[in-house]
Amino acid sequence: MIPVTKPFLPPQNDYIKYVNQIWQRNWLTNNGPLVNELELKLKDFLNLEHLLFTANGTIAIQMAIKALNLSGEIITTPFSYVATTSSIVWENCTPVFADIDPKRLTISPEKIEPLITNKTTAILATHVYGIPCHIEEIEAIAQKHNVKVIYDAAHAFGTTYKGHSLLNYGDISTLSTHATKLFHTIEGGAVVTKNPDLLKKLAYLRNFGHDGPDKFNGVGINGKNSEFHAAMGLVNLGYVGKILEKRKSASKYYDNWLLDKSLLRPEIPKHTNYNYAYYPIIFNSEEQTMVVFNELQKYEIFTRRYFYPSLSGLGYVAGNETPICDDIAKRVLCLPLYYDLSDSEVDLICRIIIRTLKYN
Ligand SMILES: Cc1ncc(COP(=O)(O)O)c(C=O)c1O
Repeated sequence: MIPVTKPFLPPQNDYIKYVNQIWQRNWLTNNGPLVNELELKLKDFLNLEHLLFTANGTIAIQMAIKALNLSGEIITTPFSYVATTSSIVWENCTPVFADIDPKRLTISPEKIEPLITNKTTAILATHVYGIPCHIEEIEAIAQKHNVKVIYDAAHAFGTTYKGHSLLNYGDISTLSTHATKLFHTIEGGAVVTKNPDLLKKLAYLRNFGHDGPDKFNGVGINGKNSEFHAAMGLVNLGYVGKILEKRKSASKYYDNWLLDKSLLRPEIPKHTNYNYAYYPIIFNSEEQTMVVFNELQKYEIFTRRYFYPSLSGLGYVAGNETPICDDIAKRVLCLPLYYDLSDSEVDLICRIIIRTLKYN
């Protein structure tokens, strides 16, 4: 069986060393020393000014929306995981979908501006698959119309753009460190900002609004994470260099097989050091996509229609038209990609794909 993804598990003893510390201190959660250590090490590794470790990447988006006091309409991408849109709705705002750039698969800046109304308060864009959005153009639109920018950077750990981590852009960027992500803490995420006032707000929001034991600085939620999750992050951080290298070499190995087969791959913009978070491939039709999907499944090889369906079609939103996204979402598959995926497994996957394309 070849799964589409497999969480990275470090040597068990590395983790147990941290667990022993937790037992000694009897401090399990509530901003413990391992959470603090992880935050410092992540900031250092990613070269960021401020970062708060959170319970997951979804609550990170919700906290970002709350911290920026957003209301009304938020312009967002239809090509992302459902958490991007559901968080907007959860925070009582209305998602307005701008179609995507067919090459990069991130939100198209030209489609954003015509959608801005006097109710628009922000743009929430996803660096989908770890590919940078059109950061300069989005920034210019946001400044011109005085709206905020949040980046859902759930996939972006390890990608740099113009020498900076992708998490360094926007008013707030959010990360997911869920078990399926290339750097993970089992469950987890982060909010990142350069603005110290926003950092303060986010810190209150993460901890129920507590300002001391019996005072509250407004409404808050439980967005904290535990010492056990931080411990996994501290261990995994030691392996992330190797993980990034391995994903790059596996992706290049796929490329050797598939790049000249009239299939499309998303375009990585210039000045990007890409993290190879996923291996998406776009087939010529939905029918061809599904034939390949089913054929691979016969061999217990699992791909994922990631991201399908287009979020503008969700039942709980009044989705506007996004024909480019609708089309691509029907034709995209993410192929298996994880730390210990072997060349011979990639050989097998690609042989089946090529044979299937030949006869269909
Ligand atoms: C683009 C995107 N945004 C948000 C999330 C939510 O992150 P989490 O699962 O950590 O809540 C994910 C998770 O898969 C994601 O892929």
